[in-house]
Amino acid sequence: MKDRDQWNSKVGFLLAAIGSAVGLGNIWRFPYVAATNGGGAFLLPYFFAIITAGIPILILEYTMGKTFRGGAPVTWARMNRRFEWLGWFQVMIAFIIAVYYFAIVVWVVSYIGFSFTQAWGADPSSFFVEYLGLTDSALNLGGIQTSLIIPFVIIWAIAAFIMYKGVSKGIEKACKICLPILFVLMLVLVIRGVTLPGAVDGLEYMFKPDWNALKDPSVWVAAYGQIFFSLSIAFAIMLAYSSYLPKKTDVVNSAFITATANHGFELFAGIGVFSIMGYMAMMQGVPVSEVAGAGIGLAFMTFPTAISALPALNALFGICFFGALFTAGITSLISILQAVVSGFHDKFEMSHKKAVTVVMVPAFLLSFLFITGAGMNILDIVDAFINNIGIASAGVIEVILVTRFFNPEKLRQEANEFSNFSIGRWWVFSLRIVTTVVLGIMLFLNTKDYLYN
Ligand code: PHE
Repeated sequence: MKDRDQWNSKVGFLLAAIGSAVGLGNIWRFPYVAATNGGGAFLLPYFFAIITAGIPILILEYTMGKTFRGGAPVTWARMNRRFEWLGWFQVMIAFIIAVYYFAIVVWVVSYIGFSFTQAWGADPSSFFVEYLGLTDSALNLGGIQTSLIIPFVIIWAIAAFIMYKGVSKGIEKACKICLPILFVLMLVLVIRGVTLPGAVDGLEYMFKPDWNALKDPSVWVAAYGQIFFSLSIAFAIMLAYSSYLPKKTDVVNSAFITATANHGFELFAGIGVFSIMGYMAMMQGVPVSEVAGAGIGLAFMTFPTAISALPALNALFGICFFGALFTAGITSLISILQAVVSGFHDKFEMSHKKAVTVVMVPAFLLSFLFITGAGMNILDIVDAFINNIGIASAGVIEVILVTRFFNPEKLRQEANEFSNFSIGRWWVFSLRIVTTVVLGIMLFLNTKDYLYN
C-alpha cells in the first residue's frame, strides 16, 4: 500500500515499543500490585508470567505484524478471513482506552503546572475533587471545567501533531526525545527517594517477600493481569507497531529487549515511588500500608501530599514526578492511537492523514466528557470494564485462534527465520496450554467479580 511508513531503525522501533509498554501503569500500578500481592515474593509469579505469557505473546504479535503487515484487522484477516472481527474488537478496546488515557494525561499536565507552587495546598484530595468539578450526582455533564480546557487543547495539539507526522517522523522521533527525559526524571526521583529518612520502610513494604502469598491463586492471576496491560499486548498496539518493521527483523530478541526494559523500569519506578511513600508515612507517623495506594488516588492525592512534605526543592520534585507521568503517558497514548489509525488506514486503504483524522476527531469529541464533572465517574466505569474483561477476553481469544485454528508452527518458523536465538516448541506450548488456561481462569474470575461486586 502506497503511503505505508516504516521505522527508520530497529532502535527506533524498540524505543517506540518500550515507550508504549512503559506507561502510567509502570509508575502507579505495578509497585502497588507487587506490594499487595506478596511484596518481593510477587516477583516470582510475575517473572513466570513474563516468561510464559508476556514474552511469548510479544513474540507472537511481533511475528504476526511483521509477516502480515497490517493493522490488527487486516493482519488477522490475512491469517484467516474469519478472524478479522477480533482485530476490530482489539481496535475498539484501544480506541476506548485512548479516550480515557488521554484525560489522565490532561490532568497530569495541569499538575505539572500546580507543582510550581504546590497549588493543591494542605488537602490535595479535596483540591482534586474541586479541580475536576466532581459532584455527588454521577452523571453531571453540565459543568465544563474551564481550568481543564487549556491542558486539554495542549495535549490534543501535541498528539495530533505527532500522529499527522506519521510513524517514523512522528512517533519514532517523539519516543527518542521522551524516553531519555523520562529516565532522567525518574532517576532524580529515585535518588531523592532513597536518600530520605523512612525510605527503607517504604521499600520493605514493597519488596519484603511474603512467601505464603504464592499459595494464593489470586496472586498468580494478578501477575498475569498486570503483564498484559504492562506490555501493551492483546489490544492491537504491538501488532500495529511491528507491521512497520522490515521483514528481516529479529523479533525474538526484540521481544526480550522490550520486556526486560519494561520490567526494569517498573522496578526502578517502584523504588522511587515507595521510598517517597515510606518517607511520607514516617512524617505522618503511620505505617506505610496506610498511605500506599495506586492509580489516580496515588498520583493526584497521595503524591501531592508527599511532594509538599519533602524537606526542600518541592517544586522540582513535583515537576519530576508529573513530568515522568507525562512522558510515560504520551508515548503510550500515541501508540494506542496508532493501533486504531493503522486499523483504518490498512483496511480502507485511505491516506495516513485521512486515517488520523477519522480516528482523532471522534476521540476528541468523546474526550470532552472528561472535562465535565462526570469525567471521573465515567473513567472508573469504563476502566474497570476494559481492565477486567476487555483485555483478558481479547487475549484469550487471540491465543485460542492462533493455536487452535491456525498452525502456530508456521509462525514459529517465521519468528525464527531472522532471529539469532531460536524459540523452541516451548513457545507453542506456552501459548496453547499455559496462557490459554491461566487467561481463561482470569477471565472467569474477573467476570464473576465484575458482575457480583
Ligand atoms: N503499557 C501501558 C501502561 O503501562 C498500557 C497502555 C499502553 C495504556 C498504551 C494505554 C495506552 O500504561
